[in-house]
Amino acid sequence: FQPKRLAGKRVLITAGPTFEPIDPVRGITNLSSGKMGYAIARAAREAGADVCLVSGPTALDTPYGVHRINVQTAQQMHDVVLSRVDGKDIFIAVAAVADWRVANASDQKLKKNSKGDVPQLQFEQNPDILASVAALEKRPYCVGFAAESENLLQYGEEKRKKKGVPLLVGNIGHQTFGKDENELVLFDDKGNQRLPQAGKQALARQLVAEIAARI
Ligand code: C5P
Repeated sequence: FQPKRLAGKRVLITAGPTFEPIDPVRGITNLSSGKMGYAIARAAREAGADVCLVSGPTALDTPYGVHRINVQTAQQMHDVVLSRVDGKDIFIAVAAVADWRVANASDQKLKKNSKGDVPQLQFEQNPDILASVAALEKRPYCVGFAAESENLLQYGEEKRKKKGVPLLVGNIGHQTFGKDENELVLFDDKGNQRLPQAGKQALARQLVAEIAARI
């Protein structure tokens, strides 16, 4: 039994990887499984919230009672989030959003040629969804994630300030992608606090309790 800590609250969550096309059949993505974001969506719903989950491509089932919107690219995720953010109480950015998209993606499948020429991809930067939401005048309580490979305690607090969010959640170790367990550290204006290693669903429930205590 979960206490209804978020009863009446509206929560928007991003989860999973994004997929940036190179041509109609190829693209660039990352190793995010979506498990942590989906676990948080499930925990928020169990806590009584109305939950909208904006998801990149994953192999996961939609958690019971959660409204899910599927997207592929970072730009689509950005546009859906900004069209849905109005009236939300909490925004939790868990997705592993591609920093860059292919600027010269092809409408037709790229073909090999006999000379062995290789495609010349050019990149342009994607919008930062979390920073965009955190900069809104009417903004929800914003929670960010960070997966750093080193110096998490320093980079975590720096990232929290840079993104302009009250709460940033660091993954301890960067080997979390696809795993069922995780270990987190929470950064807020009072300092940092560890949530020791546990299953992602158990950690998601603890995180929801921590968020509920801060709003
Ligand atoms: O800058 P970095 O990717 O390390 O920040 C991670 C946090 O920012 C995560 O919460 C992620 O969901 C969010 N993010 C975003 N849009 C981006 C890049 C990251 O919402 N384009």
